[in-house]
Amino acid sequence: MRSIIWEKGKLKLIDQTRLPLHVEYIECCDFHAVAEAIKNMKVRGAPAIGAAAAYGMVLGALAFEGNEKGAFRAHMNRVAEVLKQTRPTAVNLFWAVNRMLRKIEELSGREVPEIKQRLLEEAHAIYQEDLEMNRRIGQLGNQVVPPKAGILTHCNAGALATAGYGTALGVVRAAHEAGKEIHVWADETRPLLQGARLTVWELMQDNIPVTLITDSMAGYVMRQKKIDLVIVGADRIAANGDVANKIGTYGLAVLAKEHGIPFYVAAPFSTVDLALDSGNEIPIEERDCEEVRCIYGQRVVPEEVEVYNPAFDVTPHHLITAIITDRGIARPPYRETLAQLAQYDQDD
Ligand code: MRU
Repeated sequence: MRSIIWEKGKLKLIDQTRLPLHVEYIECCDFHAVAEAIKNMKVRGAPAIGAAAAYGMVLGALAFEGNEKGAFRAHMNRVAEVLKQTRPTAVNLFWAVNRMLRKIEELSGREVPEIKQRLLEEAHAIYQEDLEMNRRIGQLGNQVVPPKAGILTHCNAGALATAGYGTALGVVRAAHEAGKEIHVWADETRPLLQGARLTVWELMQDNIPVTLITDSMAGYVMRQKKIDLVIVGADRIAANGDVANKIGTYGLAVLAKEHGIPFYVAAPFSTVDLALDSGNEIPIEERDCEEVRCIYGQRVVPEEVEVYNPAFDVTPHHLITAIITDRGIARPPYRETLAQLAQYDQDD
């Protein structure tokens, strides 16, 4: 099962709003369709959004007619703007689109048809690298997982949210593959139920033992000593180690601290945004109030009730035991350890 497939000049995305009841792919034939799919969360999860946006840039390039390089660059800047306007929090989106724009600059001496071909190769590289980074995160993260661990996770940081294997669920998969007999506790993750619909589905497909709980049960389950560690993904990590992730993550970190349970974040290094000094600077997306008024498309509250719907929260760095990246495991003080990992050259 792959969340993103490039096939015959089109982008196929598994429709994550319909899972697990319907396993269907949608086809995006132009960059506007990709932007809509990101906005409507048919594709979601920070690294998956980044990879989808890279292919959106390819679709934008393919739609350009003519050979005039200046006009092509101006067109691609407009495509980039449309894609960047979709969701504000996950930095991987901006990282991937900017990487595609840089490629265009790098190739300024080449003709438009060649640039289009090279952009497709760059999007494939972003996708492939993400897959490899997740394997590495899994390998490294496996070191912090004790045998028979109870692992609590939130939202979906799995294969669906990435090019494959997952970040937080990559660690879970690696521990499972190592025969550690782990057991996952999945928060349902209101309002859009990514934990209940996606994480549970994904893990059950791989025969990884999982128990679903509602978000409000996490503290009780920790108190019952069923949880040995918490592991979540990230949408953006600031230079000081503050982490933006799905709404509810912050509460889990506070609960983990109270119960003396280690709290880990797993993410590719492309999720680290060293330009931001702290989590206070991370833009937090607010989504349509109907998402809270409804459960699975069904309104369950008085019609006009006032609602607040931030999609993410920020977990302060002092609540985070370690940040597991493809470049290594960062531990406090994060300002130093993340800056060190930023220097790391993968060929060393
Ligand atoms: O709103 P979503 O479903 O895109 O939010 C996803 C998350 O918060 C994930 O934990 C994060 O993007 C990491 S995915 C590897």
